[in-house]
Amino acid sequence: MKNIIVGQSGGPTAVINSSVAGVYKKAKELGVEKVYGMVYGIEGFLKENIIDLDEYLKDEENYELLKRTPSAFLGSCRYKLPKIEGNEEVYEKIFEILEKYEIDALFYIGGNDSMDTIKMLSDYAKEHNKKELFMGIPKTIDNDLPITDHCPGYGSAAKYIATSIKEIIRDNSSFDKTRQTICVVEIMGRHAGWLTAAAALAKGKDSEGVDAIYLPEVAFDLDKFLDNVKELIKKKSSIVIAVSEGIQTSDGKFVCELDSADRKVDAFGHKQLSGCAATLANIIGRETGIKTRAIEFSTLQRAATHIASLTDINEAEMVGMKAIEAANEGNTGMMVIMERSDNYKITTNIYDIHNIANVEKKVPLEWIDLDNNMMKQAYIDYAMPLIQGELLPIFKNGLPTHLIRK
Ligand code: F6P
Repeated sequence: MKNIIVGQSGGPTAVINSSVAGVYKKAKELGVEKVYGMVYGIEGFLKENIIDLDEYLKDEENYELLKRTPSAFLGSCRYKLPKIEGNEEVYEKIFEILEKYEIDALFYIGGNDSMDTIKMLSDYAKEHNKKELFMGIPKTIDNDLPITDHCPGYGSAAKYIATSIKEIIRDNSSFDKTRQTICVVEIMGRHAGWLTAAAALAKGKDSEGVDAIYLPEVAFDLDKFLDNVKELIKKKSSIVIAVSEGIQTSDGKFVCELDSADRKVDAFGHKQLSGCAATLANIIGRETGIKTRAIEFSTLQRAATHIASLTDINEAEMVGMKAIEAANEGNTGMMVIMERSDNYKITTNIYDIHNIANVEKKVPLEWIDLDNNMMKQAYIDYAMPLIQGELLPIFKNGLPTHLIRK
């Protein structure tokens, strides 16, 4: 491969930049001349918004800094490529830019929606006998990409969630029964409850854990929810409940829409979900008169590189490196996947993008303890290895430092 390009797409994670680092490192090892970065994903690429990563990553110190930098260093987008038929000019433009920069392979780091870009581009290349290669690199805090054991980005967000919930539980239980407090914590994850399930990891010898977990995999019943809260009130002074932003009633209404219906929709038709903890906290407060707080982790859970999982950082770098190796061997239209064997041994492989793009993997129902609104041990066993290890930020003036584009 002479020159290559890498882009980031969709919601950022704490470790998405480690995949860029892995791509850069392996490409240089294999003698690639130019490693370009597309600024703001494929949308920026179409405007020829391209940088040479040598400018930033030749310096070993910057490479280390990139791995400790949250969000998408290159900039991201939520852009859906149109269907090929009738929109050939978009694809012609992309291939024209690839040829202009003599780019042999394009790498896209993203989730289910972003993998659609790799699918469309590799399909177009096949139909038009183009030689360029297209590889997907998994990333999403939602952990909902199929085939791969898990997704880079998930372990770090899960570690942040479990850590913060442990801290919230301590704070919430400061007072005795004369000052009962209920806390509803809202966690991202759209249609899959993987991230909310991570609230279960907060339980340990030094933490009683959350009192209930509500995932989008199970229809949300407001009456049953209130009954459960009222039961908990009888027994405890501090109650902490984790809810997914995507919980829906059995008729398909998001809980965050129960108070207001107008929600913005992105290019992939996803509604912006936020506010279900506030909605539920209001309802609980009204029904019980007990002090109820709503906490929405929002962007904090995907930007918290200061508490990222080292396992996750290393795996994000590893999948970036694997994508380069796979393209170097001539593969295209594939995404890198991770496979797990005994004692948490992770190996990488590649898989046909057509079985991955736009498909969402949900939490298996058998991992959910429906009677107690809790996760079963099978989930804990799955998730615990993903949050192991830390990589401390490089502090200056008391604050973590980041690598940013000029
Ligand atoms: O897809 C990742 C994700 O972080 C989801 O968990 C969340 O629903 C969504 O992105 C939020 O998107 P945005 O930051 O564009 O509002």
